Amino acid sequence: MKKITIAIDGYSSCGKSTMAKSLAKRIGYIYIDSGAMYRAATLYAINNGMIDDENIDEESLKNHLSDIKISFTIDPENGKQLTCLNGDVVEDRIRSMEVSSKVSRISALPYVRQAITDQLQDMGREKGIVMDGRDIGTTVFPDAELKIFLTASAEIRAQRRYDELKAKGEENIDFDEILRNVKERDHLDMTREVSPLRQAPDALVLDNSHLSYEEQDAWLLSQYERAASE
Ligand code: DC
Repeated sequence: MKKITIAIDGYSSCGKSTMAKSLAKRIGYIYIDSGAMYRAATLYAINNGMIDDENIDEESLKNHLSDIKISFTIDPENGKQLTCLNGDVVEDRIRSMEVSSKVSRISALPYVRQAITDQLQDMGREKGIVMDGRDIGTTVFPDAELKIFLTASAEIRAQRRYDELKAKGEENIDFDEILRNVKERDHLDMTREVSPLRQAPDALVLDNSHLSYEEQDAWLLSQYERAASE
């Protein structure tokens, strides 16, 4: 079978990363979480006082773009992928509500998107990757051999996110606030000017609202086998 590029796009909290990781492990591909890169850039802006609830200090962010070094490492204890920002592991911090509520505004900035897109394209040059995000099949790898567009209802996605945060021990979480955040991010992701969340015309759509992990994994594996043997 030939080595291919697999792009998985879709709404937030759809389970793209679970699906992408599971396939990558099964077929020996590298998994790349593009959302983690936008989240890490957002954490950088928060840590450096460049963003609050209303404003972004764009001048300062633009001038410091080259100081944002994002990389991935593996947790030796459980083999899980961890995101690093300038050498520090920030995996938990980039998943916090604070980052989730600001990431759409940072990821709408054209120069942030350009910098991250360049890095993603570099990472995928050799193929053999599964990358998930919002614009992988449309902008980052428009020639990907397999493109998936994943959807699920906003309520189901909010419930999954709620369960995930609860399992991590995050206090004071409110389902309605999470649902609002999911809907708001959908809106911002779909209406931004640069690389909005859009289904590529040649993407296969999967609504996983009522699918088990096993069912969705089996479906994806069969799509991979078809695409890699064409
Ligand atoms: O997949 P995620 O929820 O971790 O992504 C976080 C945010 O990053 C999401 O609100 C949209 C943005 N994003 C993007 O604009 N383009 C991508 N390729 C991936 C994520």
